[in-house]
Amino acid sequence: MRLSGARVLVTGASSGIGAATAREMAEAGARLVLMGRDRRRLESVAAETGGRAVVGDLATDAAGLASQAGPVDVLVSNAGAGWAGPLARMPGEAVERLTTVNLTAPILLTRLLLPGMVERGRGHVVFVASIAGAVGVREEAVYSATKAGLIVFAEGLRHELRDVGVSVVLPGVVDTPFFDRRGMPYARRWPRPVPPERVARAVVSAIEHGRAETYVPGWLRVPSRVRGAAPGLFRLLAARFG
Ligand SMILES: NC(=O)c1ccc[n+]([C@@H]2O[C@H](COP(=O)([O-])OP(=O)(O)OC[C@H]3O[C@@H](n4cnc5c(N)ncnc54)[C@H](OP(=O)(O)O)[C@@H]3O)[C@@H](O)[C@H]2O)c1
Repeated sequence: MRLSGARVLVTGASSGIGAATAREMAEAGARLVLMGRDRRRLESVAAETGGRAVVGDLATDAAGLASQAGPVDVLVSNAGAGWAGPLARMPGEAVERLTTVNLTAPILLTRLLLPGMVERGRGHVVFVASIAGAVGVREEAVYSATKAGLIVFAEGLRHELRDVGVSVVLPGVVDTPFFDRRGMPYARRWPRPVPPERVARAVVSAIEHGRAETYVPGWLRVPSRVRGAAPGLFRLLAARFG
């Protein structure tokens, strides 16, 4: 689908991958609606990209925010949050927040914005998931589950729709405030974080070329495929290197 002139909603546009995606979309000629909670950061990205800012919390008012956004041709469902640590130490509030922001809100937004796309016979929905949703990550079980839910939701939707495209982008480690915000910095030496602009380019390319699934970086499809084809081997390797 061509992005020039298309109305594009990007959630989580006030930071990281969402802000980079807004910039990439503006370059491609899209007309932007940008969502986030932090008014100052969101309005600064909106001023830079010529977008309209819609400020609010997706955990509590997804329906209100969707109606403020108005009809769109493309939804980039990117807003999300993490939590890392042993499950037994995870507060119930964090479980609720992650499942609401990472899974329920994207489903609700899609439910509300998709009918307009179907009616117009044109549109695209992109979900920013994670490699964690494809393979499961130690001490990120809830986060992994929300992203796995998103990936399978997208798969089901793709079977259902004819004229509206559905894409999933699965980043590995990306250099954004995500880790500071979850309260646990990224501590591994490998894999090295990629810049958010790389994920933004993958989002744009997924829409322009109708790609169902894009891993960023691309080699991350290998662990995902190994887990699918040889789950026992994958578990051995994950226990050793994961
Ligand atoms: N960074 C990584 O390594 C990585 C890897 C794989 C996948 N991802 C996924 O990529 C997406 C973007 O993350 P990021 O790395 O760009 O992190 P980020 O810099 O922390 O940005 C997260 C964005 O989500 C928004 N958001 C969070 N909770 C929200 C809520 N309740 N209501 C509305 N907006 C909310 C934030 O808005 P405010 O700032 O205005 O609060 C912010 O714009 C997430 O879905 C994340 O799971 C990230």
